[in-house]
Amino acid sequence: SDIEKGMYPHYMLKEIDEQPAVMRKIIQAYQNEQGKLEIEEGILTALNNADRLYIIAAGTSYHAGLVGKEYFEKIAGIPVEVHISSEFGYNMPLLSEKPLFMFITQSGETADSRQVLVKIKKLGHPTLTVTNVKGSTLSREADYTLLLHAGPEIAVASTKAYTAQIAVLALTAAVAAEKAGHPIDFDIVQELGIVANAVQAMVDSKEEMEKIARDFLSTTRNAFFIGRNLDFCVSMEGALKLKEISYIQAEGFAGGELKHGTIALIEDGTPIFALATQKAVSLNIRGNVKEVVARGANPCIIAMEGMEEEGDTLVLPKVHPLLTPLVSVIPLQLISYYAALHRDCDVDKPRNLAKSVTVE
Ligand code: G6P
Repeated sequence: SDIEKGMYPHYMLKEIDEQPAVMRKIIQAYQNEQGKLEIEEGILTALNNADRLYIIAAGTSYHAGLVGKEYFEKIAGIPVEVHISSEFGYNMPLLSEKPLFMFITQSGETADSRQVLVKIKKLGHPTLTVTNVKGSTLSREADYTLLLHAGPEIAVASTKAYTAQIAVLALTAAVAAEKAGHPIDFDIVQELGIVANAVQAMVDSKEEMEKIARDFLSTTRNAFFIGRNLDFCVSMEGALKLKEISYIQAEGFAGGELKHGTIALIEDGTPIFALATQKAVSLNIRGNVKEVVARGANPCIIAMEGMEEEGDTLVLPKVHPLLTPLVSVIPLQLISYYAALHRDCDVDKPRNLAKSVTVE
């Protein structure tokens, strides 16, 4: 069945491997018989009537929301705020006149997110849940649902749900833009197909990732992830994956923030994972790498094809610049997986964590 590990030693590895297939499944699921992308009319109307989209989520889903903000703003022209659900509950920002609330939740059961949904419904604002679980609480209680089609996710550390969330948000933003009369200038279905192949190439490079985990993480106490723009969003997710399952203290942050504090922590051999997939800021991130190397850091540079330089650790196959998170996160998932294995950690069931947290 779908939820058996089969020949895999861990659900997490199985779920990482499923990502190219999930990507293709999503493209199919959101296409009609004529091959045209389709999103429920009510959702498109709600999106195009809203003067602001409020994305509410926790954990990995929050990190997917940060990427989603870029899509709805850059592709669909809708202003977006992304909020951590536990904070939003008691620290609600001033709302716009016609807000739309989007809850991103793999399980559809996270209590922190649900308490916001309950409050928002009382205020009478429209709500949409993006979830992997049909019939889940947040799906039933929201006005609309977008399904992830990622199949059951068992490992506590989320992998395929994150990429599925990002893919569904990209598709939705593209369809909303078209509906609003300002279609994007690229074929999202074609570009996601290219992404699926790139993701496949990455999951096929396990030996390389295992080696990186060994070289950079086998004895370290801490690790840092840096990036700018979309790479910043992925840096935070990479750090979360690593801390969740390997217990290495990890932090993801914006390249430009290094000098404002974190650089004080750089010592001889401190691993720094730097993402370089965004052309507009590639010089800046290269500059950040030089700054940390000058202080003894051990840099693992992951660059997109066409932006690579000599000495880079890993080159990602080229994809559309807005879709790079779908590819750049894969090596970070695998590197975390192998780091946890090398340290004899319980990959699928890390200490102190639950798959879905149903208490506030
Ligand atoms: C838990 C899990 C995380 C997950 C978060 C949000 O903390 O351990 O992996 O990202 O909940 O879960 P959700 O189901 O709402 O996406």
